[in-house]
Amino acid sequence: MTPPGTVQEFCLRLIQGETLEEKLAPPPRDLPDVARGDGSVPEAPGRPATLRIVPGREARVPPLAGWGDLDQRVRIIHALANHELQATELFARALVQFPDAPGPLRQELLRTLAEEQVHTRLYVRRLEALGGAFGDHPVSGLFWNRLRETRTIAEFLCALSLTFENANLDHAPEIAATARLHGDEETARILDRVAKDEERHVDLGRRWVDAFAAPGESTWQAYRRQLFWPLHPGRARGEVFQTEARRRAGLDPEFIENLRAAESEVPESERQRRPTS
Ligand SMILES: [Fe+2]
Ligand SMILES: [Fe+2]
Repeated sequence: MTPPGTVQEFCLRLIQGETLEEKLAPPPRDLPDVARGDGSVPEAPGRPATLRIVPGREARVPPLAGWGDLDQRVRIIHALANHELQATELFARALVQFPDAPGPLRQELLRTLAEEQVHTRLYVRRLEALGGAFGDHPVSGLFWNRLRETRTIAEFLCALSLTFENANLDHAPEIAATARLHGDEETARILDRVAKDEERHVDLGRRWVDAFAAPGESTWQAYRRQLFWPLHPGRARGEVFQTEARRRAGLDPEFIENLRAAESEVPESERQRRPTS
């Protein structure tokens, strides 16, 4: 196949690709970001037959408590690989969906996409070292589906970077600690790396959400204004709250404290729904 000639071509191929090789081929250096398209995106990503997206209820993942059991551990790592693959596809989608985003932001999105590809590979290799294979278990499309409604790049960053990646600042260290408890240093080290990279990914979201914010609006205010149900701040954190990681990601005390107080359950009356206009 001829190499992609533009960022847009690279991203579309990645989204629509039906082999893991197509999805994990890194972006060529200095890819021209011209002819960016009209913003229309595929409904769903292409996937290899063994990684077709199924409803969440058909892709259940064992709880972390199952780590000591190799079969369950492999299924958890399988799900982590799918999270990273979805992150890869989503950064590609952002580049296709928002052709008018500033050039420097688009370059950052492309670099982040490449890091998500690396994360995917690391989990896939670990899975293989433990006797599994990527595609052995059903996978969900939760992240892709949750971000389907985003209409601006700022909304997209609120949902992906400031919610899902933000939550991973808690999840990744928690999973790493569980792996270490069971002597699984190799997997723990991958999670350490992912957690470290995630601080930069959250920082990217924060800086650009700030750049697009209304005059005088804080990061938290901009975040709340642009995050719609079923997403909510309770989805942006895990059980054990990592304050330092969030500081390193550049989040300010107001944001960190509001997030710390966020509940995982939101009463009907407090669910922020997108205004219908
Ligand atoms: Fe990642
Ligand atoms: Fe990330």
